[in-house]
Amino acid sequence: MKNISLIGMPGCGKTTIGRILAEGLGYYFVDLDEYIENKCGMRIDYIFENLGEKFFRKLESESLKEIIAGSKKVIATGGGVITVEENIKILRENSLVFYIKRDLKDILKDIDIEKRPLLKDNHNAIYELYNKRHKIYQKCAHFLVINDKSAYETAKHIMMIVR
Ligand code: S3P
Repeated sequence: MKNISLIGMPGCGKTTIGRILAEGLGYYFVDLDEYIENKCGMRIDYIFENLGEKFFRKLESESLKEIIAGSKKVIATGGGVITVEENIKILRENSLVFYIKRDLKDILKDIDIEKRPLLKDNHNAIYELYNKRHKIYQKCAHFLVINDKSAYETAKHIMMIVR
């Protein structure tokens, strides 16, 4: 069975859903941001602030290629992974891609904006990011799943599709 990748806006539930899904399917769980942090020994917000977004995107693309090799993995990506065209191709060719869509108001209730480098300086940033990205998420995904109940319900929905 192929890998499964979860894409979507920051705070849409990729990591939480991914962990539940991996456990239910008996797959490995890999969180792309966590992998990057371990690989270079720096936090994502530190990388953004000190080395810049361009540098981060290079690291992210490199890391995606490393983790997507093989099979039976559930991969929770970072929200901006789809901003690099080549990543879309890599995701689609090496995994079943699920776009986790969640209401932006619910996302804003949940997340700590201070810990999200692209959101913290501008309160409209999440709407602007969504407008820029949601068509790209749709284009990249094989399936769209709405996360409007709980992470568990959404993981169960994905499990029904892949089984
Ligand atoms: C980003 C989302 C983050 C992280 C980085 C950039 C983005 O991941 O990769 O801060 O561009 O949307 P999450 O989607 O897990 O927050």
